[in-house]
Amino acid sequence: MLLLRRAPTVILVLYSCILLCESKTVNEVRHHGRKFPDGFLFGAATASYQIEGGWDADGKTENIWDHMTHNEPCSTDDCLNGDVADNSYNLYKRDVEMARELGLDFYRFSISWARILPTSFPDKINEAGVQYYNNLIDELLKYNIEPVVTIYHWDLPQKLQEMGGWTNSFITDWFADYSRVLFEQFGDRVKYSVYWITINEPREVCYQGYGTNTKAPRLNITGMAEYMCAKNLLVAHAKVYHIYDQEFRATQGGTIGITLSAQWYEPENENHAEAAETLLQFEWGEYAHPIFSKTGDFPPVMKEKVAAKSAAQGFPRSRLPEFTAEEIEMVRGSSDFFGLNHYTTYLVYSNESLEYDAPSYYDDIEAKLYHPNHWSGGASVWLKNIPWGFYKLLTKIREDYDNPPVYITENGFSTRGGLDDDDRIIYYRGYLNEMLNAIEEGSDIRMYTAWSLMDNFEWMRGYTERFGLYEVDYESPERTRTPRKSAFVYKEIVRTRALDFNYEPDTTVMTIDEGH
Ligand SMILES: *[C@@H]1O[C@H](CO)[C@@H](O)[C@H](O)[C@H]1NC(C)=O
Ligand SMILES: *[C@@H]1O[C@H](CO)[C@@H](O)[C@H](O)[C@H]1NC(C)=O
Repeated sequence: MLLLRRAPTVILVLYSCILLCESKTVNEVRHHGRKFPDGFLFGAATASYQIEGGWDADGKTENIWDHMTHNEPCSTDDCLNGDVADNSYNLYKRDVEMARELGLDFYRFSISWARILPTSFPDKINEAGVQYYNNLIDELLKYNIEPVVTIYHWDLPQKLQEMGGWTNSFITDWFADYSRVLFEQFGDRVKYSVYWITINEPREVCYQGYGTNTKAPRLNITGMAEYMCAKNLLVAHAKVYHIYDQEFRATQGGTIGITLSAQWYEPENENHAEAAETLLQFEWGEYAHPIFSKTGDFPPVMKEKVAAKSAAQGFPRSRLPEFTAEEIEMVRGSSDFFGLNHYTTYLVYSNESLEYDAPSYYDDIEAKLYHPNHWSGGASVWLKNIPWGFYKLLTKIREDYDNPPVYITENGFSTRGGLDDDDRIIYYRGYLNEMLNAIEEGSDIRMYTAWSLMDNFEWMRGYTERFGLYEVDYESPERTRTPRKSAFVYKEIVRTRALDFNYEPDTTVMTIDEGH
């Protein structure tokens, strides 16, 4: 998606503005750590397929990532898979120990559907799978670390995929049945309220998995399958929200919501403001508008554009499925918080010329996005370090959706490995600083989650890109975890509840502070 093109003066102007803005903010906070609000929570995240291993242990069955990596090993860059990954299925106590070392308030992890329900359905509950997550949750609670549980982080049972996965509208029942099992099994811990996240990053599930071939199940049916997926996913999410709300909330006292991936889309110049807004409405408004807007439903611009293109292309109805009036009501407001995964920013320009095969998602949008050459970033080509985009995004969420409670459920930076990760530290500090700017202006942001607690299986990139605060040695049978410099810096942020740009950690020894 790197569409490099002309670098007009506009960008240079923008760039110098960025430098000025950044140095100004940094100067203001240089000599005294900038405080986070009282009650603000810090955590770190992982996901089941990326860390657990034990892919067929104790009754677990195949999911779409097992299936893809086993049948086409070199679908990943390094031809590796998650069969063992970080072996957290056996090493979860070390994971919790790391959370204690960092002094985290919470740990966000996900549950593997095929580990809990080997048939995909609740006719058989796998006791060994339940025991694994009970052990993990109990270990966390022992040290007052709150579990934040993602119900679905991309590892769909393969059997459900063979029945169409997220394009089959029956999935709303399949997902509801699975979720109810989790509420019954794990939702009842006395005194503690589990935070539930129904689905992680719908855009990546639907667009990458169904519209393109960049995530399992790699359907690559763009302009069609990603829209069907989106509708079913939103209804499935809402169904689960209402089940929790009506059957479990009173006794369990947790909160439940969805996590969206949302990047910032900056117009190349003011002539492209509309194109940037349209692109944004497709990329994450598709999921945010139905849930968080006053009116619900897909964003109007998206409905109009896909309907017009579909008609011109000879389709008898819009390729974007319609919600019924009942579904619109069911989805609207179905999240206690706006779970936000944010990583980067793109520049956008409008371009109606037919460069993509139609129908396609980007042909529907009629805009293009790219990173200017001079933006620096991480090991992932898509990840540029642009903190001001985070500020703009948080401001837009506050303004467009009436200032919902926002949980930052992921934010982080990739390298190729190594313990001295100063670039990651610069990234975290820059993004946290901009988050504080948004909070100061009234954004209701309540928690922050670093992605990731440790290195893990980075999907199609295998183990070539590393996001961990802890480095994982994949050569060692113990999958030895070692804190990076960024782990020490994050620990100090959590301990002091403040952001100090001058702090230089002593990285010789990691300890567990009292009370953890
Ligand atoms: C994916 O679909 C596009 C058309 O949308 C096509 O050009 C491309 O070859 C497909 N890739 C694979 C691996 O099938
Ligand atoms: C639109 O994209 C095409 C193909 O990349 C390019 O030739 C054309 O100049 C672009 N038009 C505008 C207005 O940017």
